[in-house]
Amino acid sequence: MVPASASATATRWWRRLAPVPQAMPLSPPASRRRFHVGDWCRPPFPTSFAVTDLGPRRGQVLISFLTSRAPSSAPLRGTPTVARSWEEDLERILWTEDEIAARVSEIAAEISEDIKGCGAEVAVVGVATGAFVFLADLVRRMGLPVAVDLIRVESYGSRTESNGAPAIVSDVRVDVEGKHVILVEDIVDTGNTLSFLISHMKSKGARAVSVCTFLDKPGRRKVQFELVGDGKFYRGFVCPDCFVVGYGMDFSERCRYLPFVAVLKPEKYT
Ligand code: IMP
Repeated sequence: MVPASASATATRWWRRLAPVPQAMPLSPPASRRRFHVGDWCRPPFPTSFAVTDLGPRRGQVLISFLTSRAPSSAPLRGTPTVARSWEEDLERILWTEDEIAARVSEIAAEISEDIKGCGAEVAVVGVATGAFVFLADLVRRMGLPVAVDLIRVESYGSRTESNGAPAIVSDVRVDVEGKHVILVEDIVDTGNTLSFLISHMKSKGARAVSVCTFLDKPGRRKVQFELVGDGKFYRGFVCPDCFVVGYGMDFSERCRYLPFVAVLKPEKYT
């Protein structure tokens, strides 16, 4: 359970999932009372559900969706099971949605200022999948006509330690030759992935390679990387030595969608 003081953002997120309209009757017998989607819930939620209990915090309601109208094979999206599972897996929130937004704006402004005078076309290349949220926020805040692409590298699987041998499983489509490439990472840990990607961009003829990572774990660095040309290193936050999830980052494909960054409970992966 995330401590109540940990984040107002988490509370807001929960409330968006199950907003409680003022007029909604909660008095007994509330359990198994049926409501319909038009009342206070929009698709893709199932069309019918029942109030089963009051939540642990004031004003919250736990709801269980009734599956009778959904095909039995269809995954139920947005169910309370999902909401509860992430909360139980998290130890504490490190950066809230608002803190992240403020920092991303700062970095975007810094990068925009730097690249305005770089005299080359710019290609912003996100490292999939972890960087997808950061990449989207960053390029929109930069507000400059840059090319955007993704590259997919695998070195992790479902474990929390890099295996040290990254391999490209999906390369960029944008021609980076002669361009200033900004590699966008979710997190730099040992430095293996980044060092490999910088060499890859250099071999493709990039004129300069900058790195913009949302998080940096400098204490865990095993490989020092060198930027190319007049490339620069940008980072959002220095991350403590723990496994974090949210804002695009996952553990076994879970928690990427969370709008904040939280520490995963060590017992979840040890
Ligand atoms: P590196 O090659 O060891 O620097 O690993 C970088 C990659 O490992 C990142 O792009 C992430 O996908 C993953 N990674 C490292 N630390 C974490 C973490 O705390 N949470 C989620 N992913 C992580």
